[in-house]
Amino acid sequence: MGIAVAAVKQQPRGLVKSELDVTLPGQGFLRRLLRRGSLEQPCRKEAVVVALASGKGGTGKSFLTTNLAIGLYQRNLRVAVVDCDFGLANAHLLFGVNPRYTMQHLLGGQRTVHEVLVPTPFGPSLVAGGSGISSLAELGAKHMQMLARALSQLADRFDVLLIDCAAGLAPQSMITVLAAQHVVMVTNPEIAALTDAYAVIKCLSRQIEQPNIQLVVNRVTDPQLGRATFERLSEVSRRFAGLPIHYLGAVPEDQAVSHRRLGQAPMLLETPECETSRALSGLVATLEAQVLETFSQPNTRGVEARMLTQIRRW
Ligand SMILES: Nc1ncnc2c1ncn2[C@@H]1O[C@H](COP(=O)(O)OP(=O)(O)OP(=O)(O)O)[C@@H](O)[C@H]1O
Ligand SMILES: [Mg+2]
Repeated sequence: MGIAVAAVKQQPRGLVKSELDVTLPGQGFLRRLLRRGSLEQPCRKEAVVVALASGKGGTGKSFLTTNLAIGLYQRNLRVAVVDCDFGLANAHLLFGVNPRYTMQHLLGGQRTVHEVLVPTPFGPSLVAGGSGISSLAELGAKHMQMLARALSQLADRFDVLLIDCAAGLAPQSMITVLAAQHVVMVTNPEIAALTDAYAVIKCLSRQIEQPNIQLVVNRVTDPQLGRATFERLSEVSRRFAGLPIHYLGAVPEDQAVSHRRLGQAPMLLETPECETSRALSGLVATLEAQVLETFSQPNTRGVEARMLTQIRRW
């Protein structure tokens, strides 16, 4: 973590009620921090982009996206979730909202990103994906460019963008993943999920800029299984794809997750002390440190430029 960031985080909470108050949740902690640090050296900072990806479908990306977003918001970051699981989106259901406008209207040119962005009852904002719209399942270059522009506009308003990607190797997922600064790859311990995760890692390893991949092993039935699963995939990725991956952590198999009803608050809020929520909080803490570290680094190219580069390559 950068020194300036660490210094500000140690400030007593709730004492300063001014624009520089970094203690208010979701009020632009990073941007105010940077504005404060930038008195001598003005610079434009945009949100850190974190993509959640998987090889196999149904590994828990949307469940994790929702809870990580809430956890980061609770840590004073302005967070937006962008549901890029085009055509099969469900993040809005997990956030308990039913937005009138979605990615479909954005990419159709009918609405701006600010019109499709909605607040959720739990803090993070959301751009919902379109559900059941087959035309969204395969996007062309023009739509990907529109998405890149929209992400850039969101990145100006938030500290973190969490992108819930479609499972698998579709170019639109790969482009989005490669434009992110952090990739959270979600797998289950089963061999089928690991094989598919490796397929994605292999595909990403062939790109010029290699992504920073962190593995979450979801639905583990034994505390040792997360690390052991990571070791297996990490070894294969390094040896056969030449791409090292990192371990973010594991989340237990929990019937309370799969039995959740529509309208129920996400786990991290409803049962913060349960084993699953504690595991999620551990992931949030590590991710927060990485986001702050990325944010404290000198300006790099923005998300739109990174994405346009990828669109040209695919
Ligand atoms: N730790 C867990 N314990 C038990 N059930 C879980 C856990 N994590 C996720 N699930 C369940 O697995 C199912 C798939 O989860 P989710 O929708 O988050 O996966 P996904 O990766 O987003 O799927 P898709 O690829 O279709 O978008 C859901 O029914 C969810 O409740
Ligand atoms: Mg999903």
